[in-house]
Amino acid sequence: MPEYKLKLRRYDPESGQPAYWSEYDVDLDAERSVLQGILTARDDQDGSIGIRCSCRAAICGSCAVRINGKTALACNTAIGEAAEKAGDGNPIVVEPMNNMPVIKDLIVDMDAVHWKKVQRVVPWLLPDGDPPEREYVVPAESMIDITQSMACIQCGACVGACLSMEANPDFIGPAALAKAYRFVGDPRDGQERERLKDLAEDPDGLYTCTHCFACVEVCPKDVAPMNQIMRLRRRATGDFGIKDRNNGYGHEKAFVNLIEKYGTLHEAQLLPRSFGDGSLLKGQTEPGAVKELIENLPTAIRGLKSGKVSPVKALWHHKLPGQENVKRIFDEVHAKEDRLELNLYIVGEGNDEEIGAMAEIAKEDV
Ligand code: SF4
Ligand code: SF4
Ligand code: FES
Repeated sequence: MPEYKLKLRRYDPESGQPAYWSEYDVDLDAERSVLQGILTARDDQDGSIGIRCSCRAAICGSCAVRINGKTALACNTAIGEAAEKAGDGNPIVVEPMNNMPVIKDLIVDMDAVHWKKVQRVVPWLLPDGDPPEREYVVPAESMIDITQSMACIQCGACVGACLSMEANPDFIGPAALAKAYRFVGDPRDGQERERLKDLAEDPDGLYTCTHCFACVEVCPKDVAPMNQIMRLRRRATGDFGIKDRNNGYGHEKAFVNLIEKYGTLHEAQLLPRSFGDGSLLKGQTEPGAVKELIENLPTAIRGLKSGKVSPVKALWHHKLPGQENVKRIFDEVHAKEDRLELNLYIVGEGNDEEIGAMAEIAKEDV
């Protein structure tokens, strides 16, 4: 059996000592998991290693750690593959997840961050009216849209990997927002608008996500939390016209309008248009927009002084050669009556007709 070297980050906040590293050699088949490696080291060499686990089958969500710098379930990561990624002769480095305080070694405090944020989004159904005499009957196709968010095992890997949360610990975060979509998209819930308004207007809510894809990359259940956040945004803005305090809605509109008009981004126009509703004149003359523009004047002056912005650049922007083709794409999308949104979690084998039928089922009205 091959021998693997594990390098674990050790830390006990109660000891008053700084964090340190411990290395262990374990003999295991390459197919066994990193978790098995850690448990073998704990059983045979050092009973003080702190690691949380239960199912060992990627179901309970308790063993998320960072392996060679990337957040993953330790029980779902083959030790042979982890050694390959670490590179020749290097140990497999295992650390606790980011963005949550360490309780001991590889165990983080999920209550302090992850569960608190899940509670924030009111993670239960809020139906309108009296409950039916018997169970709610929901058409199966109306649940397809939320199956992806329902697959979450609450491992917190996305929370540990989220770069926005690292910069702003108050951000509600990917797991909780994916959970929010699970209820916003549920036809039995009667508070869709209120939930969306609440999340859009929270300065650390829907628009704090920077689309970095880290949560999509690390999620072991393909929940794709960022996609659920984008769905929440589309619902909030497209379906309910909800504007947010961070100008996220105006920013997205400004971005889209500029690409439609020029084919490339007119950076000097992006900021001022973002303060309003994304358009040139109306966007910049709304009362809120004027206030924001005045507040940002010092930034504009600094840009002028450094040469990054000039009056000519601010007013004029060239159009992309062949921009009419970009415009044609926009016209085609605008002409569609329905927003077609595919739930990519539903996968399977089938012929084109079946796939087409599935797309129809997954279609959402705008
Ligand atoms: S895509 Fe958004 S929610 Fe996901 S990790 Fe990046 S910033 Fe966080
Ligand atoms: S969304 Fe994925 S990574 Fe995040 S807690 Fe759920 S299962 Fe884990
Ligand atoms: S031990 Fe349950 S998910 Fe890893």
